[in-house]
Amino acid sequence: MISTMISTTISTTISTTISTTIFTTVFMTVSTSVFTTSSTIVPTSTLDAAPGGAPPWLIPPPLLADDQLARLYLALLAIGAALAVISLASQMRAPTPYGRHASREPAWGPQVPRRLAHALANGLPGVGLFLWLYIATYQSLGLTPTVVGGALLLLWLAHFVHRGLVHPLVTRYGARALPLELGLSALVPLTIFATLNALAIAAMPYPDAWFSSPYFLIGALLFAVGFVLNRHADRALRQLRPPGGRDYAIPRGGLFEWVSSPNYLGELIMWIGWSLATWTAAGAVWTLYVAATLVPRARDHHLWYQERFSDYPARRRALIPFTW
Ligand SMILES: NC(=O)c1ccc[n+]([C@@H]2O[C@H](COP(=O)([O-])OP(=O)(O)OC[C@H]3O[C@@H](n4cnc5c(N)ncnc54)[C@H](OP(=O)(O)O)[C@@H]3O)[C@@H](O)[C@H]2O)c1
Repeated sequence: MISTMISTTISTTISTTISTTIFTTVFMTVSTSVFTTSSTIVPTSTLDAAPGGAPPWLIPPPLLADDQLARLYLALLAIGAALAVISLASQMRAPTPYGRHASREPAWGPQVPRRLAHALANGLPGVGLFLWLYIATYQSLGLTPTVVGGALLLLWLAHFVHRGLVHPLVTRYGARALPLELGLSALVPLTIFATLNALAIAAMPYPDAWFSSPYFLIGALLFAVGFVLNRHADRALRQLRPPGGRDYAIPRGGLFEWVSSPNYLGELIMWIGWSLATWTAAGAVWTLYVAATLVPRARDHHLWYQERFSDYPARRRALIPFTW
């Protein structure tokens, strides 16, 4: 038992330290590069040359105009993919120790107020950094912002204004504090993924016709459906507790009749929609990371419910109705 705790502490400490170091180095270089790039006018007709009018998948063409920025974008993609693998491996072993799984694993650092930690970890990169990098990227590349890019920016902000500013205020958390390590383990990856996605949608030369492409139409629809499911499920969970309460109850009604974590299902659908609507590798890697984080956690929530409540509905699945 003690050796498991020690090895878990060591491995989470190492992974947080490594990702923090990588993040600091890369982020400093990215921001230096974004703000020192010489202006290069890239024609927005680049997209028209792509097959079917679809934008190139891996790297937005205007970024290619700047060698250093292109390499950094690719490096961030690789780091993002590595973080997805690390997150999956660590969550398969044991759930991240917050909420109902808090007592199972040790974590380092002082305790910080949970509302504040969630607000900073989501609001700073998800809203402040994203908006700043979006504007700085197209300005430094000498691009005219596209209408589609602006619409995608609004989708992203619609989610993160809620996640960073509203959700932490209204949620009825069980524990009022969490270890600093957990705050950082949310802040560091989100900063990397917000950087990637802001660079991508600011630089991608979407034509107005992108609005009527199946990528955008299906993607935006999925985003909206996932957004509503996620908010609806989080609200239902909130109402299970009186203000100040800490107990858990069996959630009932709506999608909770079919799965234990409809809020995670909604979140996943939303980011799959984002990948489609943006059609960028940045969106895809971020969605992989979200899946690597939420799928194992949904399994752990489901097992926890089954252990905790003897009358837990048998037909309910973990994340995907009728399936898993
Ligand atoms: N994009 C990502 O990578 C990512 C990662 C994690 C979370 N999220 C999103 O962030 C939101 C919150 O995530 P979470 O992991 O905290 O979700 P969660 O485990 O479902 O908990 C949400 C809130 O509801 C409470 N709660 C959950 N089940 C309850 C029950 N049966 N009875 C009473 N209260 C209950 C929790 O209490 P406790 O405070 O006691 O836990 C917590 O305050 C979700 O919308 C999720 O999709 C996104």
